[in-house]
Amino acid sequence: MFSARDRFAEELNGIEEAGLWKKERVITSPQGSSISTSDGEALNFCANNYLGLSSHPEIVQAARSALDSHGFGMSSVRFICGTQDIHKQLEERIASFLSTEDTILYTSCFDANAGLFETILGPEDAVISDELNHASIIDGVRLCKAQRHRYSHCDMKDLEKCLQESASCRTRLVVTDGAFSMHGVLAPLDKIAELCDRHDAILVVDDSHATGFIGETGRGTPEYFGVQDRVDIITSTLGKALGGASGGFTTGHREIIELLRQKSRPYLFSNTLAPSIVLAGIRVLELIDAEPERVQKSRENTKHFREGMTAAGFDIAQGVHPIVPIMIGDERRTMDMASAMNEKGIFVVGFSYPVVPKGQARIRVQISAGHSVDQIDHAIAVFSEVGRELGLVS
Ligand SMILES: Cc1ncc(COP(=O)(O)O)c(C=O)c1O
Repeated sequence: MFSARDRFAEELNGIEEAGLWKKERVITSPQGSSISTSDGEALNFCANNYLGLSSHPEIVQAARSALDSHGFGMSSVRFICGTQDIHKQLEERIASFLSTEDTILYTSCFDANAGLFETILGPEDAVISDELNHASIIDGVRLCKAQRHRYSHCDMKDLEKCLQESASCRTRLVVTDGAFSMHGVLAPLDKIAELCDRHDAILVVDDSHATGFIGETGRGTPEYFGVQDRVDIITSTLGKALGGASGGFTTGHREIIELLRQKSRPYLFSNTLAPSIVLAGIRVLELIDAEPERVQKSRENTKHFREGMTAAGFDIAQGVHPIVPIMIGDERRTMDMASAMNEKGIFVVGFSYPVVPKGQARIRVQISAGHSVDQIDHAIAVFSEVGRELGLVS
């Protein structure tokens, strides 16, 4: 055991020496655009709280009322004695929100992805995946026995090549993130859907960074690209825009969802979603439709920040997503910039290799509908001040 402990300690030292240590900041207030931390007050620009609903009073109230009406926990998986009326209601509500036939809840989108591919694909099939897809898709694909193909990021020629190479397979399934979390790029779903139609392949979209706020009414990237009826399966999370607690789901064709209920391992062998999260999830979807100005505010805030940072001379990866990467390149300067921003009360995170390619280090900012224009303007002013100090802008 001692030699194993020495090895673990050595590995930890290596992580620290390489500058890859992930430190967790301790928040002492509810999640929001403005937070208290153990280091002081900060404006928060790095949460996935896209609609500002994580601590919304009506969501908190819905969660509280579920404690009274449905208790704290279910102490069971769904098929034994873990299904309540509200679990069924949330599944129906998600299906109607996204115009799909049926939905299955998971305790996370990681689990939704882990349980999908193995359930519906076998050795006679092929899965074709964007090279920058989320880790949970990569792990889910690893668990299944289908042939694996990987296409260059959003490269339609390469995707078509993979479809041609797998032409003899029984079922081909193309899977992509709807919005890629490291740079906020949207997958070109109109083109991907066209290729899937032409080659008779199933299209799966993980829309974790889009459900609730991308597209005219927040239905996500399929709505943004006008292909809602051409995406076969959507996986997504309740842990970002949709209240931000935890929970995930897979939604799509009835037969697929039923197969998942019968066979998907993270569903069959893991506990039910807590009732308070379920009732709060229902309320979130009601609020998105009852108050469409929230989705609109997310768009306006994003535009305001992107324009302000561009005018201040920063190199911003272009796009429409509230994930806004400030491209810096050099790893050390990126980390210096993130630390200086944090010291001045703007909570942002620097990403460097191996999370992003070498020489493409960046600060990832996430804009929320919960930010006020003043908060965004203040962040731009602090970015400009720190950027000048570090010689990044003039
Ligand atoms: C694209 C994508 N899929 C899945 C997940 C996992 O979601 P959850 O937190 O619900 O497990 C994430 C979260 O980082 C994500 O960005």
